[in-house]
Amino acid sequence: MDRALGGTIAELIAAGEIKGKLGENTLIHALGRITPKRIIVAGLGKQSELTLDRIRRATAEACRFARGKGAKRVATVVHGAGAGGIEVDRAAQAVAEGAVLGLYTFRRHMSKEPDNGPVEELLIVERDEGRLALVEKGRSVGQAIAGAVNFARDMINEPANFMTPADMAETAGRVAADYGLQCTVLEREQMRQLGMGALLGVAQGSSQPPKFIILEYKGGPASDRGMALVGKGITFDSGGISLKPDDNMGEMKGDMAGGATVMAVLRVLGQLRPEINVTALIPATENLPSGTALKPGDVVKAMNGKTVEIVTTDAEGRLILADALSYAAKLGLSPMVDVATLTGACRVALGDVTTGAFGNSEDLMRKVLAAAQEAGERLWQMPMYEEYKEQYKSEVADIKNSGGRYGGAITAAQFLGEFVGDSPWVHLDIAGTSFTGKEKGYVVKGATGIMVRTLANLVLAAGRS
Ligand code: BES
Ligand code: MN
Ligand code: ZN
Repeated sequence: MDRALGGTIAELIAAGEIKGKLGENTLIHALGRITPKRIIVAGLGKQSELTLDRIRRATAEACRFARGKGAKRVATVVHGAGAGGIEVDRAAQAVAEGAVLGLYTFRRHMSKEPDNGPVEELLIVERDEGRLALVEKGRSVGQAIAGAVNFARDMINEPANFMTPADMAETAGRVAADYGLQCTVLEREQMRQLGMGALLGVAQGSSQPPKFIILEYKGGPASDRGMALVGKGITFDSGGISLKPDDNMGEMKGDMAGGATVMAVLRVLGQLRPEINVTALIPATENLPSGTALKPGDVVKAMNGKTVEIVTTDAEGRLILADALSYAAKLGLSPMVDVATLTGACRVALGDVTTGAFGNSEDLMRKVLAAAQEAGERLWQMPMYEEYKEQYKSEVADIKNSGGRYGGAITAAQFLGEFVGDSPWVHLDIAGTSFTGKEKGYVVKGATGIMVRTLANLVLAAGRS
């Protein structure tokens, strides 16, 4: 490119105008010297520090920069696959992910057209024909995964009046039809027959009927029941009778992020079709106060027979997940991974940077942590020492639904552990990480879609072994 432009890029580097810092973008006008009108020189940072995540970030920044200049079609080389020394398929995947994730917008409820965009086409250019098949493989995996993340972001960003439990069920049905999955939705009466008293307790305050959504992907042997992905699907969390304060309560439209996440992972499976069986379970309901709502002091019975004293109706996530995990255990699904915007305590502990991981199996935990590392999603294992369990003992029922403020993310996780039976299980608390107020790299403001890529990596790795 530099040769075609008569040494302009080298000149700008020599003049110190192009430094090559990560995320630095320089626009050069071709002025007829080559077919494209404009060239962007995108900084990748130090060669020794190049990672897949930096490729995603640099690509995202460059694509947004191009969109800001009104570009409709963008062509790129596979960053990192040259001097960077990264395998070409993985680099191509990162480029596709960075572009698709970084260009995401949510404008469904805005009348005004955006000033620029959207970018309509991204072309990945590879001159070495021997590498084309690998580029294409990485591109297709990256596009499937990033497309699923954006699908989750759309669901999470949607206001609660557009994403009710019925809307979630309808979305699941559409994903199933489009991507070759099986979808079953249990209604209130079936939940009653199954004994899902904890989920029904949360749902009884709302006039929106609850939905228990089951999505199945079958790519493995019929003899294998496969693993369970369980996602919290509170489409709006007001706190219930234990009403939340009104500042930022609107954020609680995103309390179904876990449910959207596992739905998105099943979408990836439907597209890439690995040899594995996975079932997603999404208990979906609103948590609202009303004359029929659950009250502090009430006792409910979960599907596995355990009774729970309600000390606060705002600890509703663990109640609906109790029944979903019990259901997974009854189906014999193993291992189990759940994702939930579960506790403000996790947000306090780890901020908006890191998702909390909790579990009962070091082997499964290792796999989940490795999958997160590969995805570039920050994940940190939290302790699950027995001593904490004291905190949620009840005087009137088997357990109570809050262990108090201290160690709140841990006691919430251990509460969930009461319902998984003997299955290896990991719980991911995304209360801090599912939303962001700042644009950074391939993450834009609003819903992040965090853990979709981690869990996609986890299930795809299981499909390979
Ligand atoms: N959905 C919230 C947790 C949350 C907080 C998610 C902030 C995202 C951002 C959850 O249902 C909740 O209200 N948890 C309570 C539990 C407490 C009452 C034991 C909390 O964390 O305050
Ligand atoms: Mn709550
Ligand atoms: Zn909640």
